[in-house]
Amino acid sequence: MTNTRPEISIADMRREYTLAGLREEDAAADPFDQFAIWFKEATDAQVIESNAMALATATPDGRPSVRIVLLKGVDTGGFVFFTNYESRKGCELAANPHAALLFYWAELTRQIRIEGTIAKVSEQESADYFATRSPLSRLGAWASRQSSVIAGRHVLDERLAALQQQFPDDQIPLPPFWGGYRLTPHTFEFWHGRPNRLHDRLRYRTDGIGGWVIERLSP
Ligand SMILES: Cc1cc2nc3c(=O)[nH]c(=O)nc-3n(C[C@H](O)[C@H](O)[C@H](O)COP(=O)(O)O)c2cc1C
Repeated sequence: MTNTRPEISIADMRREYTLAGLREEDAAADPFDQFAIWFKEATDAQVIESNAMALATATPDGRPSVRIVLLKGVDTGGFVFFTNYESRKGCELAANPHAALLFYWAELTRQIRIEGTIAKVSEQESADYFATRSPLSRLGAWASRQSSVIAGRHVLDERLAALQQQFPDDQIPLPPFWGGYRLTPHTFEFWHGRPNRLHDRLRYRTDGIGGWVIERLSP
């Protein structure tokens, strides 16, 4: 039998990281400022979907799950994304608010890990964001019972057609099962690839009284 798989040795795939690193003397005192600097650099470097982040959640007994969501805002309270509250992630977050985010910007050999607790944003904040979405994307939020099993693609097409009848004038309200979450971090880690696998890792953790402790971790 012919082997049609490309012969790639995954174990031999590696890349030498030569970009400048992250030094303590250059790091911002506040991790939100450091995030803003790196996020701007990723966006300026035209990283595709620099706001795409992995979101890890877990059941209360510690079974993890992870998926990509889009960062839609950062403020002093934390990192905001939008989703279906009844999805798998929504159910896990309802039972266990501890979560983690991860950005990986390969072009810059940078990774940012963020850990904290998650809470729903206000209904007004969700409605304000929902209103900025296109009519079809608003209807899409209504049409999808995210993470539930469906009989086929036709289920979505039929729901969308029915919703277009129901809301013909683009007056599409916020679904009660849809909205934002804000992750409030207690820890950040900024990772920068360096030569010989001796990478830079700076961790910020809250000192509990409004400041941040910066520590270097061994790569
Ligand atoms: C680039 C990218 C961006 C995504 N953005 C979102 C998002 O902002 N919100 C969302 O609910 N799902 C988003 N998804 C889909 C999720 O990865 C996931 O399939 C969905 O949220 C269901 O996850 P769950 O079953 O774990 O709840 C995105 C997927 C990709 C690949």
